Amino acid sequence: MNPKRRPILAGNWKMNMTAAQARDLAGKLVPLVSGVTGRDIVLGPPFTALAAVAETIKGTNVSLSAQDLHWEDKGAFTGEISAEMLLDLGCRYVIIGHSERRQYFGETDETVNKKVRQALKKGLLPILCVGETLAEREAGKLNEIISRQVTGGLKDIPTSDMQKIVIAYEPVWAIGTGKTATPEQANEVHALIRRKIKALYSADIAEGLRIQYGGSVTPENVSTLMAMPDIDGALVGGASLKPESFAALVNFK
Ligand code: 13P
Repeated sequence: MNPKRRPILAGNWKMNMTAAQARDLAGKLVPLVSGVTGRDIVLGPPFTALAAVAETIKGTNVSLSAQDLHWEDKGAFTGEISAEMLLDLGCRYVIIGHSERRQYFGETDETVNKKVRQALKKGLLPILCVGETLAEREAGKLNEIISRQVTGGLKDIPTSDMQKIVIAYEPVWAIGTGKTATPEQANEVHALIRRKIKALYSADIAEGLRIQYGGSVTPENVSTLMAMPDIDGALVGGASLKPESFAALVNFK
């Protein structure tokens, strides 16, 4: 953590929660985090529960994120969701390029970049996800993969938009596995991302960029992760599905 950067704690609910379950979860969470100041708290329900959660968190210190969007404004794209639809439901953020989307739904740096550009064009704040697989790490390709994903995802993004972007570093091998990267391992990659941003933009932009860690973050390990100088937040899957555990995480010391 660095006092210059506001911590951002986000829950990615993935393909979980009906609208009723989502309303219940958000409703229980709100009072548990209402006293939190100086931190951004974000919930990412599935598309079908966005409206229910939006209603529940209205007027609170919790904001709404979608888990994906399409890069076109509208039209013949069966099954897809546009930025305008997300804004209409009260979304402020959108998660883009999650490794599950890259792995199972064929997303590439190119499609991820189109989505980042569309989000910015329409006024949504992108949470751009990057991360290496275990095979890539073991093959010594960590730097290459992260650099490629960062450069590709941010292609043609002007400096003036960079303060709207959050990057989430999520090592694929740590997602849903209970294997958290050590705080040192995570920080090393966050520092690498920051150096890349400095090279692509400037020292100021790099210093201001918020980089979240994701991958088996829990109330037990969040504080040691957040104590690292380049870790500015967490993108949380499993532990965000219970109000008490996500609240404990948000309230990290
Ligand atoms: P887990 O916290 O369940 O490991 O998931 C992390 C993640 O993918 C958040 O986007």
